[in-house]
Amino acid sequence: MTQVETAVAGGVSFALTSEQRQLRALAREFAEKEIRPRAADCDEHATHPVDVIAKAHEVGLMNLHVPASFGGSGLPAFDGMLVGEELNWGCSGIGTSIGANGLGAAPVIIAGTDDQKERWLSPLLGDPILCSFGLSEPDAGSDVARMKTTAVRRGDEYLLNGSKTFITNAGYAAWTVVFAKTDPDRGHKGISAFVVPMDLPGVQVEKHLDKMGQRATDTSAFALTDVVVPASNRLGEDGEGFKIAMKTLDFTRPGTAAGAVGVAQAAYEHAVAYAKERVTFDVPIAMHQGVNFMIADMATEIEAARLLVWQSAWLHDQGRRATLQSAFAKRFAADTAMKVTTDAVQVFGGYGYIKEYPVEKLMRDAKLFQIYEGTSQIQRLVIAKEIFLPRDD
Ligand code: CAA
Repeated sequence: MTQVETAVAGGVSFALTSEQRQLRALAREFAEKEIRPRAADCDEHATHPVDVIAKAHEVGLMNLHVPASFGGSGLPAFDGMLVGEELNWGCSGIGTSIGANGLGAAPVIIAGTDDQKERWLSPLLGDPILCSFGLSEPDAGSDVARMKTTAVRRGDEYLLNGSKTFITNAGYAAWTVVFAKTDPDRGHKGISAFVVPMDLPGVQVEKHLDKMGQRATDTSAFALTDVVVPASNRLGEDGEGFKIAMKTLDFTRPGTAAGAVGVAQAAYEHAVAYAKERVTFDVPIAMHQGVNFMIADMATEIEAARLLVWQSAWLHDQGRRATLQSAFAKRFAADTAMKVTTDAVQVFGGYGYIKEYPVEKLMRDAKLFQIYEGTSQIQRLVIAKEIFLPRDD
């Protein structure tokens, strides 16, 4: 049976529950009232939107997946994905700042002991504390197993040395899950994961990176110099870090893909409105097939991307491994966001290319979806591996 057949057999429905509709409406209202009015300014000045993050925390739009047994709302992936689309419809720079706690917290949810969950997740619920996911390095982004950061065991502690880069919110995070080699000779089997408080001696945020798009999100590089981390901060067993990272990305990619759908939806709405009002050759440009076919393709591809995102989140919530479907969703939604935003600039013509109009920002923002949490090429690699070398776990 294909996944779609399985879904139908399992009684899948496209109807949202009333709770899901309420949650989505809350996120849309927040995006309209709190995010959109700040988007242009935060983009121009690359402002970390600390006040918007605090408000999102207050109304319950952060840390959605922290289990109820640790004080959270324990919402399924599907609900997080609904919120992610709306916040990123508002602005993906601000939306990513708000949503990135999901990525930071996921390894603790996936691999933490009850004590670790209590210690690291519960505080996220009381205050708008940020956390981050420290996987990428200057010489190891797509090829995770090439990482050079080391963690050397010394009794009840580990000594961490190395550097991480392109880490969302690291400049403002209270703690980061850092992946490091505990056995450099064992490739991916020699990687372990640690919760590292960012105020430990030897942790130094070196650089806030100045990005093309999603400029309201902090993206930072940091160094670890002889950082002493208690062994009790290790997540899972020694050597399990690579798989924890992969499981995390399987879980978070649908939410990120939903963000790409939100950006595409925003660009599409701007393009439709402009096509109705801009007149050339005595008719609104929406009447020209060259324009309305572009808009018809945008609508079709956004819907297809949204369906892939819904499917991948739904599969997670059935307790099924969704590596393939998460990669389908992330690849297709990211590439769709790039295409739709580029076409939206085209619909606006010369106005699309200047900053006074909203679509050039959306095109810059969309680009990052093809890069972070695994490039579109890495998603294809994951898909190809699932086709030709399927795992049996
Ligand atoms: N779940 C569980 N286990 C998995 C898995 C998954 N999804 N994927 C692979 N594994 C297991 C394999 O079964 C294998 O296990 P065994 O050793 O027991 O056989 C092991 O992990 C190694 O798998 P591969 O041989 O497939 O590993 P690889 O070295 O060829 O790499 C890769 C695979 C998919 C390319 C991986 O390196 C990858 O995902 N790279 C992209 C990383 C990425 O997305 N980075 C983004 C960083 S986060 C970010 O951007 C956010 C931010 O803050 C900006």
